[in-house]
Amino acid sequence: MLGELEPCGCRSNPYGGMIRKSHLLKRQEDKDLILVDGGDLLYPTTPMPQILKKQAELQAGYLLKAMEMTGHDVVVPGERDFALGTASFEKLIKASKIKFLAANLKKKSGTFLPASTVIKRGGIRVGILGLVGESIPWPSDLKVTSAIAAAKKEVPELKSKSDVLIVVTHQGLDEDVKLAKAVPGIDIIVGAHSQSFLQMPAQIGKTTIYQSSYRNQYVGIVPLHSPFSGKGHELVGLDASLDDPEGKPSKMGEFVAEFKKKITELNDKEEVRLNQVEVKNPEAPENKFHTFVGCAECHRTQFDFWRKTSHAKALHPLLKDKQFQNKECLGCHSVGLGDPAGFSSVNALAVLHPTEEGKKGVPLGAEELAPFLKEMAEASSMDSKVTLKRDESESQPLSMQLARIEKSWAPVQCENCHNPAKSHPFSGSYTKVVEKNACFKCHSKERAPEWYTTAGQPDWDKIAQKRKLITCPATPSPSSDDKSG
Ligand code: HEC
Ligand code: HEC
Ligand code: HEC
Ligand code: HEC
Repeated sequence: MLGELEPCGCRSNPYGGMIRKSHLLKRQEDKDLILVDGGDLLYPTTPMPQILKKQAELQAGYLLKAMEMTGHDVVVPGERDFALGTASFEKLIKASKIKFLAANLKKKSGTFLPASTVIKRGGIRVGILGLVGESIPWPSDLKVTSAIAAAKKEVPELKSKSDVLIVVTHQGLDEDVKLAKAVPGIDIIVGAHSQSFLQMPAQIGKTTIYQSSYRNQYVGIVPLHSPFSGKGHELVGLDASLDDPEGKPSKMGEFVAEFKKKITELNDKEEVRLNQVEVKNPEAPENKFHTFVGCAECHRTQFDFWRKTSHAKALHPLLKDKQFQNKECLGCHSVGLGDPAGFSSVNALAVLHPTEEGKKGVPLGAEELAPFLKEMAEASSMDSKVTLKRDESESQPLSMQLARIEKSWAPVQCENCHNPAKSHPFSGSYTKVVEKNACFKCHSKERAPEWYTTAGQPDWDKIAQKRKLITCPATPSPSSDDKSG
């Protein structure tokens, strides 16, 4: 689930979210459900950037609670579940009713998670064993041993206590296939880690392997009978048809709304408020970002091109979803978040020059900045009149309004692709040639799946097309001006 309580908001497959999942589970005719999850549940990445730690911890707590509310029974952790360290992980799961299992992951200092559990439900005894991958980087205070050896040891005894035996793993599909071949007696493997989308389960001997994509996009439903037949599985996409009805939030809907409020409070409280913002001396070497207002002064052609691209509009979708104070989202929809020379306050996405000598700069939040960015995109030239602050009735030419802005960290802009400009044009730290990989920090597999092949590799032909849409034009040479007179 990668820490997500809500659908991702991406353009393709905006599936997922705990609200939809809870509606789907409530709709199931059979109420004797056993819910398992294969890990990388709590966090999107590991290690977690410093600036996101507090927010991530809060979010993980809410997600785990939401998992409990929907009745999840078992989770096998993935490496990303340790993004905030083993101690933080243990604190979180101690407060939860959900069972975390891992037979082959131990603390170097002693015991860790139980290997297995038996759940009796609907008249069937279901044995569940947890296994993790050996070649995955686990935190240094943990030790991983062979998954196959652990299974060979645990399966026979667990089998004698259960009617159906499930192994939930976090090791990837290839390893799951090896496991099924090496260890007899497993009815079902529910896999994760490789983020495979198995529309048809893989059948290895008597073992059936399931994996249902990632990010809570699909829920895989497998009917259990004793003996297990391997028939009649279903993959249900968590799409908008499972949303709460407009204006009528479910219990989970209210819970998710409370979570968003808490995130806003956290980031709001922690950060500088109005008139406390100070922009560092622009000459200082550590002040490495110009932001687009700086570049626009000299590179008019490229600025005019960029301001009409979708990058220049990247703040708006966050407003629509009321996620503009969420640092995780802002990280990819702006420049310089968390950088010592960048910004950290969600309430100062731009800073205006002080109006009087000796005063501090005036910060603009997303709700103030976004309408200006929209007018900027729509302006026909630098002379078009636009308004900067909502409380100002006077509109002024775009060029004059830009001159009032000291920095604007939102939206996605020049220095996301050309690197921080530092003392450019006087000494070079920007790049003209935008590296092939420059896009992947944001256009990740999770966020832009259509940029990747089904095997998860960058789709370079597709990316070349995408690149054309954002490649800045060259500045017309002075000689062509001469020709025109
Ligand atoms: C004070 C004017 C000025 C500012 C501000 C400025 N540039 Fe430049 N830039 C230039 C000049 C002059 C050149 C050409 C000389 C050179 O190649 O270094 C240039 C060259 C470039 C090039 C390479 C183009 C080529 O043909 O080699 C890129 C890319 C670039 N700038 C990006 C930026 C970005 C991004 C910003 C804002 C972060 C920025 N510049 C800010 C003046 C400026
Ligand atoms: C700092 C993060 C970031 C970087 C770096 C970045 N993008 Fe984007 N890109 C975004 C976001 C966010 C959007 C969505 C903007 C919107 O529609 O509101 C987007 C949208 C786009 C779109 C329009 C949607 C689509 O897929 O057709 C294209 C094209 C695109 N980016 C190309 C690129 C290319 C090529 C690169 C690398 C040279 C790149 N981007 C680098 C964040 C980034
Ligand atoms: C890892 C970087 C990354 C993070 C984190 C991120 N986004 Fe995005 N977002 C993107 C990129 C890249 C695109 C463009 C993808 C595409 O169109 O293929 C995008 C597109 C979007 C879009 C669609 C834009 C449009 O015009 O239709 C929405 C909505 C959105 N993001 C919301 C969010 C929200 C809400 C969050 C936080 C919960 C978030 N994003 C976090 C990178 C990111
Ligand atoms: C999404 C990535 C992206 C963004 C954002 C972006 N550029 Fe570019 N820019 C490119 C690419 C790609 C090229 C072509 C160079 C190359 O192919 O590597 C380019 C080329 C340039 C050039 C050289 C043009 C030439 O051929 O002489 C300048 C100057 C430049 N950009 C400035 C800017 C400025 C200023 C901004 C912000 C207003 C900006 N860029 C925003 C990707 C980007």
